[in-house]
Amino acid sequence: ARHLLGIEHLAPDEITAILDLADDYVSLNRSTQKHGDALAGLTQINMFFENSTRTQASFELAGKRLGADVMSMAMAASSIKKGETLIDTALTLNAMHPDILVVRHPNSGAVNLLAEKVACAVLNAGDGRHEHPTQALLDALTIRRKKGRLHRLTVAICGDVAHSRVARSNILLLGRMESRVRLVGPPTLIPSQARDWGVEVTHDMETGLKDCDVVMMLRLQKERMDGGFIPSEREYYHRFGLDAEKLAHAREDAIVMHPGPMNRGVEIDGTIADDINRSVIQEQVEMGVAVRMAAMDLLARNLRAERSAAA
Ligand code: CP
Repeated sequence: ARHLLGIEHLAPDEITAILDLADDYVSLNRSTQKHGDALAGLTQINMFFENSTRTQASFELAGKRLGADVMSMAMAASSIKKGETLIDTALTLNAMHPDILVVRHPNSGAVNLLAEKVACAVLNAGDGRHEHPTQALLDALTIRRKKGRLHRLTVAICGDVAHSRVARSNILLLGRMESRVRLVGPPTLIPSQARDWGVEVTHDMETGLKDCDVVMMLRLQKERMDGGFIPSEREYYHRFGLDAEKLAHAREDAIVMHPGPMNRGVEIDGTIADDINRSVIQEQVEMGVAVRMAAMDLLARNLRAERSAAA
């Protein structure tokens, strides 16, 4: 494939290939060497139209560690502010011959649209409520390294599923790798069509966490609630915030995940988030760099093959 736009386009063997290569990059990143040359001679432009800490930093590091020339656009200071459209911005950058565009955008589908207009590889760094494929891949790598497999696991995805591209990409990936997904949250934050996604749905943490192998917590995405119902944080924490009492219903060796940014005392108790025996939140961040190195490396191989076939 030319682009990485969503998990929906990836077959199980493609997911496994990305994770296998990412495993090698974890070893490289832990070594004193830290650098490869898979992207040498290529230009990578990062365009983040929405705030980011983890995704933007890790894509930038991933590109630099593999030898790309990396430019991160300051979108707030770009001509978007003067009324230029997303497509015109993309066409402008495309005329400078980048090889890789990494794009985050608040609108679902915006990254797919942009990918149709440019001649380079496009990676979706999160589009609206739609997909966040590299997040699901880094979550999968974290789970596979901790649990030794991605199949026959029970994963509880808890909280604001309705506004979450992370949930959507994880549901697709885990289903494709033959794990069982339970969505847990208040009815207002679980989409009504969720039962058609091949997942279980429950509105009770005790039932949802019972005997699960992985507990994945989600942030309340108030910025996407469009003036709709916003639960009180206190009430929400009481019913759906992950604390020791609720976590006790999961398997004894269950791991706790959170994509970040996290709101301590809203969806998760800070003590659980910091418990190195249960929480793998920092490992997720580490896996993020390796997965993005692997994803860009594989797309660059395809791009080079496509160009040499056309030459
Ligand atoms: N998980 C995630 O996408 O975090 P950022 O918004 O900080 O990139």
